Amino acid sequence: MTPGARAAAGGPPNPGHLLGYRNSVNQHERTFVVSAGRGPHGPNQPVNMPVDFTSTYSYRPGVHASLDYAREGMPSWSPLEELLAQLEAGTRTTFQSQGQVTTAEEHPVQVLPGLLFSSGMAAISAVVHLLPPGGHLIMPRHSYMGFSALAQQMADQGLLTLHRVDIADTAQVSSTLHDVSTLAGAQDARVMLWIESPTNPMLEIADLPALLAAAKQRGVLTAVDNTFATPLRQRPLQHGADVVVHSVTKFLSGHSDLIMGAAITGDREIHQRLHQHRTLHGAIPGPMEVFLALRGVRTLAVRLDAAESNAGELSRRLDQLSRDAGLPLRKVNYPGLAAHPQHQRAAEQLGGFGAILTIELDADQPGSADAWDSAQPGSGEPQPGQPDSGQRITSQRSEAEVADAVLSALQLWTPATSLGGVESLAERRRRHPGEPSSVPDGLIRLSVGIEDVEDLFADLLNALRAAAAGEPIR
Ligand SMILES: Cc1ncc(COP(=O)(O)O)c(C=O)c1O
Repeated sequence: MTPGARAAAGGPPNPGHLLGYRNSVNQHERTFVVSAGRGPHGPNQPVNMPVDFTSTYSYRPGVHASLDYAREGMPSWSPLEELLAQLEAGTRTTFQSQGQVTTAEEHPVQVLPGLLFSSGMAAISAVVHLLPPGGHLIMPRHSYMGFSALAQQMADQGLLTLHRVDIADTAQVSSTLHDVSTLAGAQDARVMLWIESPTNPMLEIADLPALLAAAKQRGVLTAVDNTFATPLRQRPLQHGADVVVHSVTKFLSGHSDLIMGAAITGDREIHQRLHQHRTLHGAIPGPMEVFLALRGVRTLAVRLDAAESNAGELSRRLDQLSRDAGLPLRKVNYPGLAAHPQHQRAAEQLGGFGAILTIELDADQPGSADAWDSAQPGSGEPQPGQPDSGQRITSQRSEAEVADAVLSALQLWTPATSLGGVESLAERRRRHPGEPSSVPDGLIRLSVGIEDVEDLFADLLNALRAAAAGEPIR
């Protein structure tokens, strides 16, 4: 809602409603995330948007008021909702008023203001519920486990039929699309294709343009979870996705200090239904969280660049270690590595390879203490935690135990779930019973932060060495 519209509705002008632009020149993303969603310049104007700490708005009988109860919407959400929508559309647009289709200036992608939710899962739940009862959901076999559990629960309740696919296998997804659409008959809206790319935690890359085109051809509803890539690296709406969802908790807000979600679409009907779902289910964010998330988005571009550069460097060094050093490191997965099965696709499709990588730990091998010699080229001195010459690890540990030994030896990286914050986090994913057994038991997901890469690498190397030395889990 614009200040003018609010004034017309009987309220005082509030610059919080206006997505103002300082100039009419196209802005680079880095500039855009900093400058969008601010009020106009002028005497006594706040640089940041005011936040309404209120649950309700007053009205005057007989006077139209567009604001009522804050569960339905509040102006404090608008700057972030509009900013995210424009980032996803990849276009600088002018929202005429809250809830109206925008006029895209340079790009054909139409977008409505995004919809913020209380969590990524709340946004996901609203989107999945676009499917009518009896619908078909085609989804990646590897995807965020909370989403996977929700989909399974809905399937168990008979609300939908699940079709799990290898989302990186375009031929398999296309033939599933064909089979399921045929099964579902002419009622196209009964089928939804859910894409996560890169997938969590396996980092598989879907052929986004091909899959979205194939789904569109069949009239299948499409949703993309863009949490890992962020709109600075991938814009599914530009490839024809109907809805994009985010865990704003992650890269967008970027400081591991809040939980929030978002859904973005250019389709009026979908927007209206998601809005209604949010209002009726009460899955709304608090104004303080929205303020913090908007503050976090201001640094998204610089944070992502820094974290991604760290992730690339770490992936190369760890990859080298996995081949040369004899440490219990079996494999490094990162779309930026040439060995990644969809490396080429990632290079063509993504604006960057992201800040998440995974490492797979090996179970103890007989004689694994010998790893020390090759792990420390040129170093004759024993290091802390290094076994004495000739010492052998007697009891063999599973790969999960080796991974846990690595995690417990970390000093800088924090063993914690979640990702996308400025601080580096590491987690063995299979500690969650919800992760499928196709995810290796000894797989650690690394969410790379913006610390100095040398410190991050040194800490990982020390932890790998400690695990190789058979140090107990602390
Ligand atoms: C890819 C992905 N989507 C969605 C979610 C759920 O988001 P939230 O935790 O904000 O509910 C997560 C959480 O880890 C995630 O990794």
